[in-house]
Amino acid sequence: MSRAIVLVGPPGSGKGTQAGRLAGRLGMVQVSTGDMLRAAARAGTDKGLKAKALIDSGQLVPDEMIIDMLADRIDEPDTGNGVILDGFPRTLPQAHALDALLDEREMSLSNVIEIAVPDELIVERITGRFACASCGANYHEVYKKPARDGVCDACGATEFTKRKDDTVETVMRRINSYHDQTGPVLPYYSEKGLLASVNGARPIDEVTAALERAVE
Ligand code: AP5
Repeated sequence: MSRAIVLVGPPGSGKGTQAGRLAGRLGMVQVSTGDMLRAAARAGTDKGLKAKALIDSGQLVPDEMIIDMLADRIDEPDTGNGVILDGFPRTLPQAHALDALLDEREMSLSNVIEIAVPDELIVERITGRFACASCGANYHEVYKKPARDGVCDACGATEFTKRKDDTVETVMRRINSYHDQTGPVLPYYSEKGLLASVNGARPIDEVTAALERAVE
């Protein structure tokens, strides 16, 4: 039976950074609903264009849209060793849908891990973030610079981009949405005995080590 691990946390808590590392170490696949929506927006699909306006203004996309997209992604052939979900579920209806979706596929939810970061750290994390325009590798102006200034470590490209929703104003809206809409997901999993919390305010390698201990 393959398994799923859920990483929950506010914007900028390090879900994407850590999901990528964990997926590599555990031989699982990172599934980021934010990345999926941004790819759909770039492709200009109906769903993608509808999502783009919501993402850019810091609001969640409708549950039914993201649940359908996630189900399709989990059914792709590369998920046989399990999935690390980065950014899903974000509402209680999404958590209920995930239960059903995993049951139908005889997959188990082994861990739900909250990456806890205080609100005051988030704005600095998000506004300092940039990514390689060619391969998408993620960097930070202070905490994760490329080894050679202006050159991507992963692919050598020299163009970088910033996300449109990474402004101070939009981040504040995303933080509020996290507390109001995603907050209730934590007690839901705590009552099921699945929830662990790691302190995400520490250096990236320390957070990775704590996550590895949590999923052992
Ligand atoms: P999504 O892309 O998931 O954005 P998010 O949750 O706001 O999270 P981020 O990607 O901003 O941050 P992260 O936690 O991954 O942190 P990262 O590792 O990059 O979603 C975007 C939008 O899509 C949503 O607003 C919504 O509209 C829509 N959406 C997505 N999923 C949805 C769903 N399920 N339902 C409805 N709508 C959905 O780290 C941030 C920066 O900090 C990086 O520069 C990194 O290098 C640095 N950093 C990371 N860890 C550390 C550390 N420990 N110390 C110092 N720096 C660090």
